[in-house]
Amino acid sequence: MLDQLHARLKNVITPEAWASFAPDIEAIHALKKEKKAVILAHNYMTPEIFHGVADIVGDSLALARQAAALEADVILMAGVHFMAETAKLMNPTRMVLIPDLEAGCSLAESITPEDILALRARYPDVPIVTYVNTSAAVKALCDICCTSGNAKQVVESLGAPRVIMVPDAFLAANTAAQTDVEIIPWQGICLVHERFTPQDVHNYRQTHKGVAIIAHPECPPDVVKASDFAGSTVKMIEWVETHKPEKVVLLTEGSMSDNIAIDHPDLTFIQPCQFCPYMKKITLASIRRALETMTHPIDIPAAIAAPARKAVERMIKVS
Ligand code: 13P
Ligand code: SF4
Repeated sequence: MLDQLHARLKNVITPEAWASFAPDIEAIHALKKEKKAVILAHNYMTPEIFHGVADIVGDSLALARQAAALEADVILMAGVHFMAETAKLMNPTRMVLIPDLEAGCSLAESITPEDILALRARYPDVPIVTYVNTSAAVKALCDICCTSGNAKQVVESLGAPRVIMVPDAFLAANTAAQTDVEIIPWQGICLVHERFTPQDVHNYRQTHKGVAIIAHPECPPDVVKASDFAGSTVKMIEWVETHKPEKVVLLTEGSMSDNIAIDHPDLTFIQPCQFCPYMKKITLASIRRALETMTHPIDIPAAIAAPARKAVERMIKVS
């Protein structure tokens, strides 16, 4: 099984790197059986995790949906902390593990429950949409959750003339460009996507003639405008699979290019050099350790879990 796997991944994993990964991959497969564990992995995981040990992969929305239906004893989130919290909200009776507590998110860290209470006091009649990239404590105080895959739909579902959208200023601006609903933003940013510039888009087009440029909606609006398509990580993948561009740049976390390139050897992926330091806390070694020691279990106090779950479930109904 390991030889077949390496044959599939050989274009992105060198034999030397593979030699260091193989023992952990083997051990993780055995631990999953022993502990009746399932590994959920976000599209930004490195290929040895994404293709080597994950059972279910996807964007934030898909992972939240899939977590709800899992019957495994243990759900391990190969992603960041808010994703593990969302899995716990969706499936509270399972043990949910995050392999490294430092796998945070610059967006989630940009807003606190106190900030939401201050927004409520300032705009008492305006509904609050929270991006899924927030803590459960923040979600608990908001009306509904959204992801980059359903932000417009969620905003419009409220039937309000204006809504507050936290915490991503760029997702708010990119959503505002697609709807008549007035959007009051918060000033959070994703430290990966904010680094892309319109000059980057221009340079890619000059250097790689005919290249398709696909952006994530956490990118600045002028980058999204200059791109050929914008959507959540799953929508970016779907776009590539439908349009099959000869050459493509995915303006998002760099590991995703490797992960899709493995399944599409006929397409050329020009990999951007932006990597998420939080996502990169999750490694084969940390996953193995988490399954061996059952760390770190996610625990959400009931008073927070109930309203936070409501915000996520409301979103899932809408999308
Ligand atoms: P999606 O996979 O939902 O598009 O989210 C991207 C992201 O940055 C998650 O942290
Ligand atoms: Fe957060 Fe950006 Fe990293 Fe996603 S890529 S986890 S939004 S910092």
